[in-house]
Amino acid sequence: MNKETAVGCEVLSAFQSKVDARAARVGIIGLGYVGLPLALLFAREGFTVSGFDLDPAKVAQLRRGESYIRHIPATTIAEHVEQKHFEATTDFAHLRDMHAILICVPTPLDSHREPDLSFVRGTAEAIAPHLQRGQLVVLESTTYPGTTEEVVLPILERSGLRCPVSSYTTDGLEVTAGEERQADFLLAFSPEREDPGNQQFQTHQVPKVVGGINASSARAAQALYAQAFEKTFLVSSTRAAEMTKILENTYRCVNIALVNELKLLCLRMGIDIWEVIEAAKTKPFGFTAFYPGPGLGGHCIPIDPFYLTWKAREYEFPTRFIELAGEINSSMPENVVAAITEALNRRKQCLRDARILVLGLAYKKDIDDPRESPSLRIIELLQEAGARVDYHDPYFPRLPKMRKYRFDLERVDLSPETLADYDAVVIATDHSSYDYPAIVRHGRLVVDTRNATHAVQEHREKIVRC
Ligand SMILES: NC(=O)c1ccc[n+]([C@@H]2O[C@H](COP(=O)([O-])OP(=O)(O)OC[C@H]3O[C@@H](n4cnc5c(N)ncnc54)[C@H](O)[C@@H]3O)[C@@H](O)[C@H]2O)c1
Repeated sequence: MNKETAVGCEVLSAFQSKVDARAARVGIIGLGYVGLPLALLFAREGFTVSGFDLDPAKVAQLRRGESYIRHIPATTIAEHVEQKHFEATTDFAHLRDMHAILICVPTPLDSHREPDLSFVRGTAEAIAPHLQRGQLVVLESTTYPGTTEEVVLPILERSGLRCPVSSYTTDGLEVTAGEERQADFLLAFSPEREDPGNQQFQTHQVPKVVGGINASSARAAQALYAQAFEKTFLVSSTRAAEMTKILENTYRCVNIALVNELKLLCLRMGIDIWEVIEAAKTKPFGFTAFYPGPGLGGHCIPIDPFYLTWKAREYEFPTRFIELAGEINSSMPENVVAAITEALNRRKQCLRDARILVLGLAYKKDIDDPRESPSLRIIELLQEAGARVDYHDPYFPRLPKMRKYRFDLERVDLSPETLADYDAVVIATDHSSYDYPAIVRHGRLVVDTRNATHAVQEHREKIVRC
C-alpha cells in the first residue's frame, strides 16, 4: 500500500472499527429474493439488521416471523426477529441510524425493453434526505456499468455530503495504490450472485465482488462483506464490479442460446442433444455444460444483458452476441408450440380446441418464482391458437398477476384421471416432485421440453421431446 492510502480517511477508520466489533447496524433496502437472504445472513453473523421495503404486506409478514419465499424457513426469520437481530420496516427515516445501507431493489426492463432504473432512483432519493456522514451505501441490484457513479452518486450528493470519485488499483485482495481523498460518505457496488434454491452453494459461500467509487469506499465495503462472506474480491471501480455481473449473466445467456439452437438442429438430425451434452461434460477442461429448455426465465438472464446493450449504444457499439442470443432464446416458446401442433397433427388432431395441460410455471425447477417464465409465454401462445389450457405447479395454486400477463387460471389437481383428460401434457418446468413415470403412464401425449422423462422406460411412444 502506498503512503497516500496509508493515511486513510477518518470516515473509513470509524466505519471499519464499527464493522470489526460487529457493532455496525446494517440496513437492507428491498426484501425480495436477494435482499431477504442477505439480511438474514448479516443477522446470523451477529449484526443488527433493519430491512426496508415499500410493501407493507411483506413487512407485516416478516414482523410476525413469517416467510413469503419458499426456500427461506419462517423459523429462521422468527428466531432473528425474536433475538432483535432483525426487524423490518416501511419507515425510511430509520435509515439515518444505519452504518451501512445495501440496496437490493428490482432492475427490470421497461415496455421498450430498456433499463427501468426507477426503483434504483427512487431508493437513492429515499436515502438522500437521511444520509449521514460516515455511512456506507452499496448498490447490489444488477445494472449496466456506470449506474452507481452516474445515477446513484449524484442523487446521494443532493444531501450536501460528498463522495469524490477517485481511481485506485487492487490485486483483488486489497487496495494496492490510490489517492485517498476525504469523503463524507462511502459508496460502492457489489453484485448480488444469489441463486435461489441452489442447494450446493449458500449465499455466504459465493465470493463477493466489490468495487468502490474511491479506495476508501472499496475498503469499507470489503470490510463489511468480509464479516459475512467466506471470500471477497476487490475490483478497481464500481464500473468493473457492475460489468462483472453482466459478464456472468451474458455468458449464461449466450451459452444457453447456443445449446437451444443446437437442440433444434439435433432434433432434425435425430441426435439426442442431452446425450451429447452428457458426453461433452466428461471433458475435464474447456467445456461447461448448459442445457436447452423452453426458453429463458427469471429476473436475470433474459434481462441483464440488455442493460449492457442499452449502455453500449452510447458508445455506438452493437452487442451482436447478446442480440442473437436474445433472438434464439425468446423464440423457444414458439418452437414448443410448433412441436405440440405437429405432435397433435400426427394424431389427426389440431391445436384449436385441444385440451392442453402445462406442468410447471416457475422459470426453473423447485422454486416459487414465475418471473419471465417461458411457461407463461407458452400458455399465451396456446390460448392465442385456440387451445384450452390448464396448468399445474406445486408452488402456485393460482396464476399470479404479473406485469405482462393476466391469466385467470387456477391450478388443476394432478390425478391419473386429470392427466388422461388432456390431449397433451407439456412439461415446461421439471420440478423434482413430479412423478414422471405416472405422467407418461396416464397422459395421452407428453411434450417434454426439459428431458425430464429421460429415465421413464414405459410408453416412450407417447413422449415427444422438443
Ligand atoms: N432473484 C435473483 O435470483 C437475483 C440474483 C442476482 C441478482 N438479482 C438482482 O437483485 C435485484 C433484486 O432482485 P430480487 O429478485 O430480490 O427482486 P424482488 O422483486 O424479489 O425484490 C425486490 C424488493 O424490493 C422492494 N422494493 C421495490 N422498490 C423499493 C423501494 N424503492 N424501496 C424499498 N423497497 C423496494 C419490493 O417490494 C421487493 O420486495 C435485481 O437487480 C436483480 O436483478 C436477482
